[in-house]
Amino acid sequence: MELKTKKPLKKQVYLGQPQDPPPPELIAILDKYRGKPDALITVLEEIQHHYGYLPRKQLEHTARELGFPMSRVFGVATFYNLFQFSPPGRYQVRVCKGTACHVGHSEEILSYLKEKLNIDEDETSADGLFTLQTVACVGACSLAPIVVVNERTYARTTPEKMWDALEHLRAEAVEEVAS
Ligand code: FES
Repeated sequence: MELKTKKPLKKQVYLGQPQDPPPPELIAILDKYRGKPDALITVLEEIQHHYGYLPRKQLEHTARELGFPMSRVFGVATFYNLFQFSPPGRYQVRVCKGTACHVGHSEEILSYLKEKLNIDEDETSADGLFTLQTVACVGACSLAPIVVVNERTYARTTPEKMWDALEHLRAEAVEEVAS
């Protein structure tokens, strides 16, 4: 009887996506956490801090470089609502939802801005200018209700006053582009 020889197994080489190397700034972040599987949330926080959001490609690099399945990286990133998956607008509009601001009708401000900007929470307006978010108490309860736009705080504000402020910022941005 003729003995069949087994075909040699093909060597399996993992060639996950993306195939190009990660950018240096991402490597600088990842290098700090190699061999630390518990640090995935911290890694994602640092990536978001650097890029302003979690770009899909950088998540793919992260999974590949740190040896996580992509499903795990996405699972963690989508579980926590502090992570964003699209670039933030030029202005991040954060409506305080803490108790004092809630009592001061911050919910009305939020609804009004949603309607005027035609977006929901955690979305960015079509012109790319405004990202609407909520925050927990920002520590200025005596001035409630509070809205924070980038670094600037709007105290004892109202839906109409906030919309005026955003219109003003929009006009400034348009002027800047035109000049
Ligand atoms: S509850 Fe809004 S600042 Fe404290």
